[in-house]
Amino acid sequence: MTARELKVPGIAYGGDYNPEQWPEEVWAEDVRLMREAGVTMVSVNIFAWALLEPKEGAYDFSRLDRILALLHENGIAADLATPTAAPPAWFFRAHPDALPVDRDGRTLSYGSRQTFCPSSPAYREAALRIARVLGERYADHPAVVMWHIHNEYGCHNAECYCDTSAAAFRVWLRQKYDDDLAALNHAWGTTFWSQWYYDWDEIIPPRPTGAVPNPTHQLDWRRFCSDALLSLCKAEREVLREAAPSTPATTNFMVMYNFDKLDYWRWAPELDIVSNDHYLQSTDPESQIDIALSGDLVRSLAGGRPWLLMEHSTGAVNWQPVNRAKTAGELRRNALAHVARGADGIAYFQWRAAKAGAEQWHSAMLPHAGTDSQIWRDVVRLGADLRSLAEVRGSAGVAEVAIVWDWSAWWAVELPSQPSGEVRFQDLVRAWYEPLWRSGVAVDFVRPDADLSPYKLVLAPSLYLVDDEGAANLTGFAEAGGTLAVGFHSGAVDENGHVRLGGYPGAFREALGVRTDELFPLLPGESVDLAGLDEGAAGEVWSERMALAGAEPIATYASGPLHGVPAVTRHTHGSGTAWYVATRPDPTTLASLLDRIRDEAGVKPVRETPEGVEAVLRRGPDADFLFLINHGDQVAEVEVSGAATELLTGGGVEGRAVRVAPGDVVVVREPRDG
Ligand code: GLA
Repeated sequence: MTARELKVPGIAYGGDYNPEQWPEEVWAEDVRLMREAGVTMVSVNIFAWALLEPKEGAYDFSRLDRILALLHENGIAADLATPTAAPPAWFFRAHPDALPVDRDGRTLSYGSRQTFCPSSPAYREAALRIARVLGERYADHPAVVMWHIHNEYGCHNAECYCDTSAAAFRVWLRQKYDDDLAALNHAWGTTFWSQWYYDWDEIIPPRPTGAVPNPTHQLDWRRFCSDALLSLCKAEREVLREAAPSTPATTNFMVMYNFDKLDYWRWAPELDIVSNDHYLQSTDPESQIDIALSGDLVRSLAGGRPWLLMEHSTGAVNWQPVNRAKTAGELRRNALAHVARGADGIAYFQWRAAKAGAEQWHSAMLPHAGTDSQIWRDVVRLGADLRSLAEVRGSAGVAEVAIVWDWSAWWAVELPSQPSGEVRFQDLVRAWYEPLWRSGVAVDFVRPDADLSPYKLVLAPSLYLVDDEGAANLTGFAEAGGTLAVGFHSGAVDENGHVRLGGYPGAFREALGVRTDELFPLLPGESVDLAGLDEGAAGEVWSERMALAGAEPIATYASGPLHGVPAVTRHTHGSGTAWYVATRPDPTTLASLLDRIRDEAGVKPVRETPEGVEAVLRRGPDADFLFLINHGDQVAEVEVSGAATELLTGGGVEGRAVRVAPGDVVVVREPRDG
């Protein structure tokens, strides 16, 4: 897509570096220790706006000049951020209208970060001004290898409900509906509850109201909010590109649990390099699966090209109710797991643990305890590991399975007034992803309208909303010989959230060879027995009264009001197969069902491994790189191909197998013939 590549050799290593928070005497020690740890790139200037521009239009770059010079002298590259995520106090005093308003109508104050309205013209102007001045000043600076636009767009201010946002929403809607108000009324179904609009100015954000707000209104609002921030990101990118046409630009995504604000399929193609931040949830006992899922999704967003892990943590974070430290070896396993999923750079928030400020209890590469600490020893060791993985850079993933992921479908299925409030998009995707992860099956994520020709098996665990094109693409994939498996309540509505009539699951009914006339969601904690699958199999969350229309029943409900009704079906569609899973099977049952589906589709794991050993492959031009991560407590032996070498130890491989100690990571280079 672009010639703007990251000019840092091997796997980049570093973190957010905030020297402005420390006296200058500390900086020399910083760079000395960075060199000791093998740090090659740091992100600077992310929150330095107030220091760079003490008052509107007056700049002081002297500190940043010294920081960049010091980094350059020490051979450390800079990922130079525009500081636009944290406008200074003077900006808000001059432009109080730029403060965001939350859903309840409260105007938020400045005093933290991202306290601006994404649609504020004053904010846009100020952000582009500082981005331009910065871009022009440092365009040819030898330390600067990448622009880091803003920071985690939408982390705190994805939705602003102020009047400026309302006006911007109307502009966005007029564009979307070609200035045709009747078209909007039809798309939103506004004849319902007397919501018909006669004037564009009548339209406001979906602010709290007496009863349930219009679903399409809410859906378009979510799309608008994502686009409003994207427009800021693109505007900054343009300013930087004008100043420095060959320097790549990124912004750090938050493809991680619970952040659903931005439609990253629309964002990723706008960036030269995709980067992501990933943090563990203390409450997730298997966060290695979350890392894998997020890594696969980020790699897919990057179009299969390598990406950068811009932030994760060496230990505890500070923003969960209880912030868990990492266990022995976890720092290393986490970082190398991101590399396994395609990261060509590993970075942390942050370099030096803060003494003051809101994040003083967040871990860092250099902890409060200093260098006599486990974290520091792990950080130094990781630097050495990443150096020995230099040749992995640029290699890609190879998957035969795709999982459909769509932000509009996610937003729509979790709107209020659904048949069940228990249907959570991300939980369903994770539930289907987990067994594939356990079996060592490589997965890509795709949009509903993606090119599916590289895949044997396509899974849509939760695709409530799908447009005609996406639906035709997915069913066409099965028709042409692929295997498609669809989860319950998929295909139910079109892109406007309108129900597809004639029976469920709407868009997929024909391909699946079934027809449902009524939904029977289950209460929290309720389950229904399933016959035809594993002994003791049960379904949760969902059931529906489905009739066969060409499909064969694989499982039926064996208890409850739908006793005897099909719950899982299989249908020959064209020259392929389409499965429907009309409940949420318990984890063991879902695992064996998905094993069966992928076996029939001819999908193999990357490598047979003992339980708890994660196997991931990156494919280089003449060799494969096999990452083996042992999450278990037993030594594992894994077969490798002949002439293999071990990259982390630099040794050869005796015989045809490698040993992976409990908690350890082994990376094997397997040359490919021809
Ligand atoms: C986010 C931000 C960082 C920092 C970390 C803490 O990812 O981008 O600035 O606040 O969280 O985990």
